[in-house]
Amino acid sequence: TAPDRLRNFCIIAHIDHGKSTLADRMLQLTEVVDSRQMRAQYLDRMDIERERGITIKSQAVRMPWTVREGDLAGGAFVLNMIDTPGHVDFTYEVSRSLAACEGAVLLVDAAQGIEAQTLANLYLALENDMHIIPVLNKIDLPAAQPEKYAEELAHLIGCEPDDCLRVSGKTGVGVPHLLDEIVRQFPAPKGESAGAARAMIFDSVYDVYRGVVTYVRVVDGRIEARDRIRMMSTGAVHELLEIGVISPEPIKSAGLGAGEVGYLITGVKDVRQSRVGDTVTINAKPAAAPLGGYKDPKPMVYSGLYPIDGSDYPLLRDALDKLKLNDAALVYEPETSAALGFGFRCGFLGLLHLEIIQERLEREFNLDLISTAPNVVYRVVMDDGTEHAVTNPSEFPDGKTGQIFEPTVRATVLTPNDFVGAVMELCQGRRGSLLGMDYLSADRVELRYTLPLGEIIYDFFDQLKSRTKGYASLDYEPSGEQQADLVKVDILLHGEAVDAFSSIVHKDKAYNYGVTIASKLQKLIPRQQFEVPIQAAIGSRIIARETIRAIRKDVLAKCYGGDISRKRKLLEKQKEGKKRMKMVGRVEVPQEAFIAALSTS
Ligand code: GTP
Repeated sequence: TAPDRLRNFCIIAHIDHGKSTLADRMLQLTEVVDSRQMRAQYLDRMDIERERGITIKSQAVRMPWTVREGDLAGGAFVLNMIDTPGHVDFTYEVSRSLAACEGAVLLVDAAQGIEAQTLANLYLALENDMHIIPVLNKIDLPAAQPEKYAEELAHLIGCEPDDCLRVSGKTGVGVPHLLDEIVRQFPAPKGESAGAARAMIFDSVYDVYRGVVTYVRVVDGRIEARDRIRMMSTGAVHELLEIGVISPEPIKSAGLGAGEVGYLITGVKDVRQSRVGDTVTINAKPAAAPLGGYKDPKPMVYSGLYPIDGSDYPLLRDALDKLKLNDAALVYEPETSAALGFGFRCGFLGLLHLEIIQERLEREFNLDLISTAPNVVYRVVMDDGTEHAVTNPSEFPDGKTGQIFEPTVRATVLTPNDFVGAVMELCQGRRGSLLGMDYLSADRVELRYTLPLGEIIYDFFDQLKSRTKGYASLDYEPSGEQQADLVKVDILLHGEAVDAFSSIVHKDKAYNYGVTIASKLQKLIPRQQFEVPIQAAIGSRIIARETIRAIRKDVLAKCYGGDISRKRKLLEKQKEGKKRMKMVGRVEVPQEAFIAALSTS
């Protein structure tokens, strides 16, 4: 297809504003999927995505569209719709999907208005110099207020309220007009058709049958079915087994030209060999320089994953090896914990990424896991000038160290006016510093903060929601690091440190953390035959203490005399219970105590 007949676009929206539903309607209207085959959210392939209603992996679909109205009426075009992942953890993938398009449909729920993710994605789109079409969705809802939110949107992007289109992804109203406007308003791709080939990878998915399927946007030149391709970041050369477009199933083609979007299959087995953001060129006639913007995925949050049943360790290792094939950002290495046994220290892009991986391990691989409290990566500069990255509290140097740096994020919070005080209080309590504050309309405020990543990975989002009755929304992106006064708090059980409970916290919060965990454990750990002190300590200094009093548990006391079978049953039951205990020093700790203590800090 000639570039002037192509339009590449994506839909950016806050979670649940109806992106997938709108995409489904477009597939139907362009007759790419016929109505009989249509199932809800056609593009969300993974079951887990469907259940959670979130989109993790982007997809690209090619749709033919003949313009219905206006000056271009009757013109036949090809639209490539690139689906962007919808969560903060995947900002980099979003930015690459955007970079593959000329235009973005900014979709806003007409009953909700602009949310934090709408803004964050809009800023990303504007940084990429994209053309934006503002669209209000769900106008079929009785609660929809298209007039009000058109004002808000127009104010935000500097257009007229009338320029905001109105659609319903559910009923299809306004969607044909939107497709016409996509052709009319979005620029055709520019690029050197005759130049050396350069294609940008915006997604890479492992498929059990085909190996890695790589989604690309060709920027310059042309890639032919029989070319040998080269990945410009690594120099690796691959035989091209197949090239084609998705519409909505893969369709082989002879090649992809400048401006086109499609997929490549080379037979590589691991998405790490075909990385998002990398530039693909032709080995025989390589481009001189790659396209800009390539970044290695960098884990931001670490957590220890341990099988509850120690004999599942090999299964856990195999499962991680499998998941890694499809996830360039997942990293892990073996780790041993005195309390939890053998497991893995795993790195994730963020908390959602962690939850998704953990859920997949439990669901797809049938594993029962304990995960330790997530922590961020600290950079420690010792007094002698040596420097190291700490991904595990147990590696945190004890005693006096030079300097410690923690990662920070730039957060955008959108909240109704009434809750500004509550949001500020929360952010200040998490060591945030206010960068700015803007009124989007009379009753909606945008707050921008720099916050330590470590302060928001636990329960920040839940707190934000509960303090604002669910009205506030949050988005954030990494913004470097800052020096901080951090200490490691150890929890000692009967004098022995329990590594799984060690945590790195700000000096001012250490006492609080110690008291909370100690009193939690005091309630969770059953009495033993001797007195068990639970202590929280910074180095050798004890900052909190609780005591579990001793008891002498005589289970047989309950059975008066004779009944031997009842006695045996009780003894067996006690033995059963013992199996699920972990020994920490001399103390028996039920598995549940670890899970409960580590679940919500
Ligand atoms: P994420 O993938 O999580 O970002 O969500 P999404 O933006 O893809 O939203 P999705 O399409 O899953 O829609 C969210 C909810 O809104 C679903 O329950 C839809 O049925 C509903 N919905 C979407 N579009 C419309 C619409 O036009 N009208 C009405 N009434 N409901 C809609």
